[in-house]
This record gives sequence, structure tokens and C-alpha cells, in this order.
Amino acid sequence: MIDVMKMFKARMYMKRNEPFLYSWHAYVGYELDLFKAFERPMAKSDVADAYGLDEKLLEQWVAVGVSIGHLKEAGRGRHKLANTWKLPKPKGDNSSGVLLKEMMELHIPTLLNYPEMMRNSNRLHFDEEKHAGTVAETSRLLEVLAMPKMSKRIRENDIRSVLDIGCGEAGYIKKLAGRFPETRFTGIEISEEVTEKAQQLTAEDENIEIQNADLWDYHPEQTFDMVMMNNVLHYIDLEKREALIYELAGWVSPGGVLSIVTPIAGSSDDPPFANVFNSFFSSFDNLYRLPTREELRDWGQAAGLEMLGIHTVIKEGGWYIAQYSKPQ
Ligand SMILES: C[S@@+](CC[C@H](N)C(=O)[O-])C[C@H]1O[C@@H](n2cnc3c(N)ncnc32)[C@H](O)[C@@H]1O
Repeated sequence: MIDVMKMFKARMYMKRNEPFLYSWHAYVGYELDLFKAFERPMAKSDVADAYGLDEKLLEQWVAVGVSIGHLKEAGRGRHKLANTWKLPKPKGDNSSGVLLKEMMELHIPTLLNYPEMMRNSNRLHFDEEKHAGTVAETSRLLEVLAMPKMSKRIRENDIRSVLDIGCGEAGYIKKLAGRFPETRFTGIEISEEVTEKAQQLTAEDENIEIQNADLWDYHPEQTFDMVMMNNVLHYIDLEKREALIYELAGWVSPGGVLSIVTPIAGSSDDPPFANVFNSFFSSFDNLYRLPTREELRDWGQAAGLEMLGIHTVIKEGGWYIAQYSKPQ
């Protein structure tokens, strides 16, 4: 009887882990540009030569690809893509593959450190410069979903100036600046490398200014009709969050809006992904757990703001946009 249970559980774990194979295969294909290589029927040896890759390992990757339906045989020993719509687009094209890269290179290795960290009560240190590029790019995937809620506020409140704190590659302000040419957009970003990228990407937009600055040292000369802070809260020490929201409320003009995009976690109703984010953030001595819904409400109240609402951006990831207005 016990042996039957053992087999049953082992099979269950294997079955549950099957989706990992799809992610692993897609990650390797994205990272090495192999989906581009097999766009047309190609021999493995030619791809290995052209890309300077180990042929034996490439063969194995192709074999897995065929068994999970990412690749198919195309005659004369060649292979090509199958189910192209499931595969990430090549690098640099705002591809969803960057999410796989972040998951495989950052999240999973970090979570695998749990036993060691728990035994020794130690933490990793998040290397911001190393990961800033990838993290800024993955955050951009959310833009399309959060954008309508931001546009609506800018239109309805006749917003003329916007500050984006931790603007990353300036994806939000670039899109908004095109849509609202009369509004002035300022982005601040702590990473020099990411700031430069953002400046390049917005070089042609006259209503955008990007500055390399740490939010803690930033003292705006005038207030803004809207202050946004998207996917930055987990960089902020828990003890400093309430005070930060208070400070940001001071940067908003009377009648203006404070808008915050963040995953929310901490309650058992939150989706598993949001709660695992917390496990991930808690692994670093310089990243912090996500806020709860109550905290977002309380901090706004303490800062004298009125809550406009907390709306879903992506349900599965527990992502929300919280917006507040500052009384006139
Ligand atoms: C997860 S990314 C989000 C980027 C962008 N806001 C978005 O949502 O697409 C967080 C960004 O905040 C920046 N950041 C973190 N701490 C900061 C600070 N103290 N001052 C300014 N920027 C900061 C990081 O370098 C990173 O580019």
C-alpha cells in the first residue's frame, strides 16, 4: 500500500513539473536565439556551426522541442518551428521571452537557495546594476494593461505635469507623452545604465525629461499634477513606506493624483504567484515584501489623500493599480 502511494506521489510531482519543461525549453531558445535559427527548416549541425554551439546539447534541446511541440521534423534530417504562436519572439522586440529569462536566471535560482538560507539565517543581496536591465524590460510587459487606467486619469483630471519615480526604460511616460503632447513628463531613475537607455528611447520626445536620481535625494522644485510610482514599492524598506507616501503626497499639486502600480500579497486570497513573489523578495537583504491592500489604504489616509480605488492590472500575478487624489 505504502509503495503504491509513493509511486503515486512521485508521478504526481513529475506530472506537476511538466510545465517547467516548456518554460526551460522556451528560455534556452530565447536566450540563444534558436527560434530564429529554426524559422525555416534547418539541420542541427548547420545551426550548431552557425551559432558556435555544442552540437550534442543542441540535438538534445531539439529532441525535447519535438516532444513538447515547439519544433517539428521537416524532412532530410532538418527541423523547424511548430506552434510558433506559443514561442517567445526574438530578443529586443519587447518579447515575452524576457519574463522567462528573469524567471530562470533570477527567480528560480533564488528560490532554490531557501534551504540554505533558512538553515543559516542568511540573505542574498540583490545586485541592482546586474539585473536592472532585465527587470526594467519585464516590467514593461505590464504597460499595455495599466496604461488605460493612467490615460483615463490624465484625461479626466486635465493633468499637465507627470513625475514617474523609478521610471525604468520610461515605457509608461513614452506612451503617455505621445498621447498627451500638452503634458510635461519627468522620469527619475537610480540606475545609470537604465537612465541612459530611457534617455535614448525618449530622445525625440520634447515633452519628456529623464534624470538619473535616487528618489530619496530628489527634491522637486514644483509640484506635479500626477506622481506615479510603478513596480518600485518592493525596493522600499517596510519602515519607510508610510513616510515615503506622505512625502510623495507633498509632491502632488492640490487636486492632483498619486498613482501606484504594485503586486499586492500577504493574504491567502491573493494568487499563489503574488505570495511566491514575497518569498523571492524576502530572499534579499535589500528587497522587501509586497504591500497588503490595507497598508495601501492606510498610507494614503495618513498622507491626507483620498482613495480613488485599487483596480486589477493582472489577476494571476496579483498586480494592482492604486490611485489617490489630493484634496484641493
Ligand atoms: C521593477 S522596475 C520598474 C520600472 C518601471 N517603473 C515600470 O514599471 O516599468 C523598478 C525600477 O526602479 C528603479 N529604482 C529602484 N530604487 C530606486 C530609487 N531609490 N530611486 C529611483 N529609482 C529607483 C530601479 O532601478 C528600476 O529600474
